[in-house]
Amino acid sequence: MPSRLDGKVSLVTGANSGIGYVIARELAGMGSEVVLVCRNQSKGEMASDEIKKATGNQSVELMIADLASLDSVRKLAQDFKQKHQKLHLLVNNAGLIIGRRVPTQDGLESTFQVNYLSHFLLTHLLLDALKASAPSRIVNVTSDAHFDGHMNFEDLQEENGYGAMKSYCQSKLAQVLFTYELAERLKETGVTVNCVHPGAVRTNWGDEAGALGVGIRIARPFMLSPEKGAETPVFVATSADLEGLSGKYFSKKKDTKSSKESYDEGERKKLWEVSVKLSGLQ
Ligand SMILES: NC(=O)c1ccc[n+]([C@@H]2O[C@H](COP(=O)([O-])OP(=O)(O)OC[C@H]3O[C@@H](n4cnc5c(N)ncnc54)[C@H](OP(=O)(O)O)[C@@H]3O)[C@@H](O)[C@H]2O)c1
Repeated sequence: MPSRLDGKVSLVTGANSGIGYVIARELAGMGSEVVLVCRNQSKGEMASDEIKKATGNQSVELMIADLASLDSVRKLAQDFKQKHQKLHLLVNNAGLIIGRRVPTQDGLESTFQVNYLSHFLLTHLLLDALKASAPSRIVNVTSDAHFDGHMNFEDLQEENGYGAMKSYCQSKLAQVLFTYELAERLKETGVTVNCVHPGAVRTNWGDEAGALGVGIRIARPFMLSPEKGAETPVFVATSADLEGLSGKYFSKKKDTKSSKESYDEGERKKLWEVSVKLSGLQ
């Protein structure tokens, strides 16, 4: 993918704030048509207006979806495909950490669903558009928090002992496992998929984390700016040097090693099967 993105279509989830906002703004600045996926209409409109003003690119479109609802994700994919035949870049960025266990309307734990499962579903529903646009890319924004993650298949939804950090780390590990399995399955399609750690970044991340959020707020002045945090995702999304490269974990713009568990092929396949069922794809 060239560093100018004229004629390309990109979709970024969680694009109204933090890292996702800067990713969307950078892509628009490079000439891409950008679809911002946000859960809140007014926040989304504000972000869209700001990006148009900052870049001069008027091809910035807002789509509303709540990733805590699988129906909302299905509707998002349907709406997108009604308007667009092509999708060159999908950035699965939206994410959160929550202080207490909040079940979604689908009966799943929110962190697992928002950070991972909804992106699993969205990616599947948009695969035909990505394949029709090849060479195209998928970028999953994960975290080095996945190093502390473990897939607890006995209790994936943390019904027996919820922990905000435990759930967050598991969801981020799930994104890495998903990236590696999808890369295998997309070989020869011209669609690549990689995941990135953006660094510790000063955003709204942690605002819903309860007691843990206090520590996160205290640490914010020492964290990276959202501009700096968006650098690796934008690099992985757009660098011509990475053409064809798939199934990698990036940190500080470098292809680097992820956790030992993330390379467990059996776990990868098990998570895939469970995810297909939980997301209603089968
Ligand atoms: N900040 C860090 O230090 C750090 C480190 C490693 C990885 N990350 C990852 O980076 C990604 C972006 O986070 P950020 O730091 O930029 O935090 P942020 O400023 O809180 O942005 C998160 C975005 O996700 C959206 N979102 C949350 N729940 C949603 C839902 N149910 N449906 C749709 N959108 C939803 C938020 O929308 P609202 O504004 O409406 O809440 C917001 O746009 C996340 O995946 C996070 O895990 C962050």
